[in-house]
Amino acid sequence: MEKLADIGVVGLAVMGENLVLNMESKGFRVACYNRTVDKVDAFLAGRGQGKNLVGCRSLEELVASLEPPRRIMFMVRAGAAVDQLIDSLAPLLEPGDILVDGGNSSYHDTTRRCADLEKKGLLYVGAGVSGGEEGALHGPSIMPGGNAAAWPALQPILQAIAAKAADGAPCCEWLGPDGSGHFVKMVHNGIEYGDMQLICEAYQLLSQGLGMAAEEIQPIFADWNTRELDSYLIQITADILGHMDAETGKPTVDLILDTAGQKGTGKWTSQVGLDLGVAIPQIAEAVFARCLSAVKDERVAAKSYLLGPEGTFGKEGGANKGVNADKDAASFVKQLEKAVYAAKICSYAQGFQLLRTASMEYGWNLHFGDIARIWREGCIIRARFLGTITEAYETDPELANLMLAPYFREVLAGAQAAWRSVLSTAIGLGVPVPVLAASLSYYDGYRCERLPANLLQAQRDYFGAHTYERIDRPRGEFFHTNWTGTGGSTASSTYSV
Ligand code: ATR
Repeated sequence: MEKLADIGVVGLAVMGENLVLNMESKGFRVACYNRTVDKVDAFLAGRGQGKNLVGCRSLEELVASLEPPRRIMFMVRAGAAVDQLIDSLAPLLEPGDILVDGGNSSYHDTTRRCADLEKKGLLYVGAGVSGGEEGALHGPSIMPGGNAAAWPALQPILQAIAAKAADGAPCCEWLGPDGSGHFVKMVHNGIEYGDMQLICEAYQLLSQGLGMAAEEIQPIFADWNTRELDSYLIQITADILGHMDAETGKPTVDLILDTAGQKGTGKWTSQVGLDLGVAIPQIAEAVFARCLSAVKDERVAAKSYLLGPEGTFGKEGGANKGVNADKDAASFVKQLEKAVYAAKICSYAQGFQLLRTASMEYGWNLHFGDIARIWREGCIIRARFLGTITEAYETDPELANLMLAPYFREVLAGAQAAWRSVLSTAIGLGVPVPVLAASLSYYDGYRCERLPANLLQAQRDYFGAHTYERIDRPRGEFFHTNWTGTGGSTASSTYSV
């Protein structure tokens, strides 16, 4: 009889196919199945030819080809497809068998599936996988969470196929119960939205603001990639800016229509931020920036009606004339690098605040140092400074906010003047920088001892008798003022949503 397979993979689309090849290359025998069975045949005749794979033409065949306890990983579209697959597979499995969802599922769905399958004796895991096609093939970052009893059987496979950081550590660690793995992956994607938009804003400041061509901006990003901003997204940005269109000879980036798409994980992160009451303005602004980009026709029409500064850096016309005349482009580029790094720190601080609140809310006991560690390689947000984040959380796992870690505090202090100056320039030039602006407002808001929420509470109390606490009385005592002299003294009950 043929040797049984170590793991089964369902779904042979881009990510699934590459993950199968990655597993096989690490010495595992992999059983593969796809709903449209022709794809199994095509894969085994193509990229899978001559490899240690078992092609399966039904879920029954897949289950029969696996060594118990069976390990089956789904790489299928998130949503109803996962539930359908579970419903079809569960009756074929035995207690102790393991199902892993490697897609971008909602963490609520994963929590529900974990609980449902536990009742049937099946071990369910939601494992976010980041790294795109290349990562899936050569080593992604993998974020598993769910039924912890599955981890000893999954660890040897998932850590073997994961990317390895410079110190040799695999970019895959057990994160926690329920949908925590998918939650961490969702926040990863939210941070990715913020990073990408931030880079795009720097690009627009250089292109529209300083009037630089793509070829002139390319070496700037390549140079930034040699210091603190060293990251996959800065590196691919430099590559993109240097790419010329074969047909026209023009920079390819200049020929691409400026409307962005989205698959929803940034939106989910922003929604969860609102649900859990955590300020993550940079992630939310990055999503809104894509929404605004999508209304291209409206923007083109509005150009003639909504006035703003004209001209570029140092040569501004109209009301803005002379604002930046004494500045030179080279020093602006240096300031911009500092501003981008400061904004990036704030953005990650917000992402980790969301993780921290979810961990407390759901009792997940997440380890933030581990999360930063498994993002160091393989995933889209991989960056040099994730190593520094790991150190910060290892030194102080209870850190109230990443910005408060000594290293980051110092960087933010050192970036002050540049950060503020870049934003003044952007505003003076009329270049939209929603994420960069949100970063400084977050920083200034977080360090502000007395926010204007005193007035806000007064307003709420004025029109709705919502009550307020006083600075000269203990917390938890609520007061109502009859502001107009005509209202009653009945106060509304106090609750927060
Ligand atoms: P990608 O990796 O390219 O982003 P995806 O759109 O997330 O892919 O997922 C596509 C995979 O989900 C395909 O393998 C698809 O199977 P088909 O080739 O038969 O379309 C699989 N898929 C989608 N719906 C499914 C379902 N209800 N049951 C099983 N597999 C399903």
